[in-house]
Amino acid sequence: MASTSASLLKSSPVLDKTEFLKGQALRHPSVSLVRCHPAPSLGFSIRASYADELVKTAKTIASPGRGILAMDESNATCGKRLDSIGLENTEANRQAYRTLLVSAPGLGKFISGAILFEETLYQSTVEGKKIVDVLTEQGIVPGIKVDKGLVPLAGSNNESWCQGLDGLASRSAAYYKQGARFAKWRTVVSIPNGPSALAVKEAAWGLARYAAISQDNGLVPIVEPEILLDGEHGIDRTFEVAKKVWAEVFFYLAENNVMFEGILLKPSMVTPGAECKDRVAPETVAAYTLNLLKSRIPPAVPGIMFLSGGQSEVEATLNLNAMNQSPNPWHVSFSYARALQNTCLKTWGGRPENVKAAQDALLLRAQANSLAQLGKYTGEGESEEAKEGMFVKGYSY
Ligand code: 13P
Repeated sequence: MASTSASLLKSSPVLDKTEFLKGQALRHPSVSLVRCHPAPSLGFSIRASYADELVKTAKTIASPGRGILAMDESNATCGKRLDSIGLENTEANRQAYRTLLVSAPGLGKFISGAILFEETLYQSTVEGKKIVDVLTEQGIVPGIKVDKGLVPLAGSNNESWCQGLDGLASRSAAYYKQGARFAKWRTVVSIPNGPSALAVKEAAWGLARYAAISQDNGLVPIVEPEILLDGEHGIDRTFEVAKKVWAEVFFYLAENNVMFEGILLKPSMVTPGAECKDRVAPETVAAYTLNLLKSRIPPAVPGIMFLSGGQSEVEATLNLNAMNQSPNPWHVSFSYARALQNTCLKTWGGRPENVKAAQDALLLRAQANSLAQLGKYTGEGESEEAKEGMFVKGYSY
């Protein structure tokens, strides 16, 4: 099947950016507003060989009642998690924890994809079985974090940019060979620090280049411009910034000829800043977030897989559930790390005798979010621990 958006883009003139961002193009379809740039045929011909597979992978991940387990903490971040339960940050401890996660019995019923850090993609379980094979046998698509983390953005207001484009094509080809079928690139936008026009443009451009390179190599890109929870601002300010960010992201995705049917998004939910005194109900988060999605995200995009961003486990599940109370054009689901793993990690505590209880804790959260994806979560019987927020100022991944 030929890609609809790719072939549309191939035959369409490229819109002027100002008009695209203002959403004016349909109201002023005048020839003077468009420039003609024929799409580079080389890019399309490479991607054409993967087009069907990309669409299929994205649809598999965006399947009813399932979402993504984000377990792609870098070694440094994983070290902080292990430290919180008194364990040393050794490869053996990381392997033991990740073995516990991927081999939770029946996980594939609720989880359609797992994002791995590079070490895990090439790692075996404690029992010596390839982690990629364990996932595949569970019906879970293996994915890979491909960004190289955040560094200061010179010339900005103390903001950051995301590294990792150098060598990305060859790394992506190797990850595909190793069994990965989707990729993740997380960049961040800070509201208290601006966001400056420079930081938003840099974030959007980096995501678009990464998305095009991923598709060329058979990996479905998860596009993640995380709008950090940090700040005292209210929900309206988050909404305003999110609209700007997503307008830029989709402008550059189109400019880079990214096939919309073969991507997944990982947005932040639209909430007040973590330090804002006015808290809002899940129904309000859902209304703002769906309003944002409807005004910015084309229905061709198969799945919207939210990050949890420091919300408590229960809060993240309640908010997702509220968004699924009526039908959406896309599969609206989860790609949580902290909101799936927190109780599981604490329950494990590094002790072999706790592995089963920790797996049960993971399955409980996965099932709760599966129900929330279907709009059927009630929130009954949740522990007090699962209601504790996990916000950390300036969180890195
Ligand atoms: P959280 O759900 O902990 O915010 O994870 C974000 C992320 O990008 C993981 O891949």
